[in-house]
Amino acid sequence: MYKTLLGATGLQVSALAMGTDVLGSKIDQETTFALLDYYFGEGGNFIDTGNFYASWLPGCQGGESETVIGAWMKARGNRDEIVLSSKLAFDYPGCDGGLSAREIERECEKSLKRLQTDRLDLYYAHRDDRDVSQEETMNAFDRLIKAGKVRALGASNVAVWRIAAANTIAKAHHLTPYSVVQQRYTYLRPRHGADFGPQIVIGPELKDFALTENVALVAYSVLLQGAYSRTERELPVQFAGPESDDRLKALAALAKEIGRSVNQVIIAWMRQSTPSVLPIIAGSKIDQLKENIAALDITLTKEQMHTLDTAGNPTAEQGWIQPT
Ligand SMILES: NC(=O)c1ccc[n+]([C@@H]2O[C@H](COP(=O)([O-])OP(=O)(O)OC[C@H]3O[C@@H](n4cnc5c(N)ncnc54)[C@H](OP(=O)(O)O)[C@@H]3O)[C@@H](O)[C@H]2O)c1
Repeated sequence: MYKTLLGATGLQVSALAMGTDVLGSKIDQETTFALLDYYFGEGGNFIDTGNFYASWLPGCQGGESETVIGAWMKARGNRDEIVLSSKLAFDYPGCDGGLSAREIERECEKSLKRLQTDRLDLYYAHRDDRDVSQEETMNAFDRLIKAGKVRALGASNVAVWRIAAANTIAKAHHLTPYSVVQQRYTYLRPRHGADFGPQIVIGPELKDFALTENVALVAYSVLLQGAYSRTERELPVQFAGPESDDRLKALAALAKEIGRSVNQVIIAWMRQSTPSVLPIIAGSKIDQLKENIAALDITLTKEQMHTLDTAGNPTAEQGWIQPT
């Protein structure tokens, strides 16, 4: 797997990150180690976890993912070869959530302990907290940076204007800004008004912001739980509609033309887009990781990228809006 510079962070990360939300919980330790070994063996070094993973599963308290990753890095002795990212802000047993200075200090310590390390390479705000001033949040994050406990900051599920506002505060006070943004993103575009709860989707405004400000984009839920290729999994209702039908047709036709899977075409398209978006891949089976990582061999032509980009767009023949 090739490596790439993660925006302004200075971190060299593999072209695909490894998702871990259900490792150490739904997926047992032995399988987790095998999946992480495979990813690492293929040149992957960018691990994505979060403090509350996977507290939503029955019998789980949160911290399971960080704990199993910590055990794996210790067993393999490879902490220094990993770019480790974690997140905070959702509540889980023993944690009220949010982005107050107190939560940031306390949750960072808990994550470091579970991960058996002295630093996080990337620490994300996992959601916004409008009850706490952004000055307080950015100052607290910056103290972790100055203490050497965190190397770079990211924002996930935060509106673009709020990230811009936080970075303006950071700049004015000589604090560390957010230099990575992680949101939901896939090839299909959600219908207007689609609701994803606290999750926010990468859209044109964020792409513009990322290009202008040298902010790296990372995407989750890229393969919609395998629904593009698995008949037993339905595409989420937020994506239903004629535009998606057209995009699915274009995707299937291109996959057939180049003899690759639709999942691979999505990953290749995302990496080759401008700005490039770094997909988090996840899977419970080695074969899934194998298929997803092999997508990095694909180079789509300009014409193929154009076909994928414009599929489902309204055409000029369908009319245009008269400026008033
Ligand atoms: N920042 C956030 O708010 C946020 C939110 C969600 C996720 N994340 C991160 O992103 C990671 C991935 O999220 P996600 O699980 O939603 O991603 P996803 O890409 O939508 O789904 C991953 C699942 O799809 C299936 N799959 C993967 N590759 C496949 C293939 N080649 N063929 C068929 N099925 C395949 C597997 O399901 P089975 O294992 O069931 O077979 C796998 O577990 C998480 O682990 C987490 O680290 C972050």
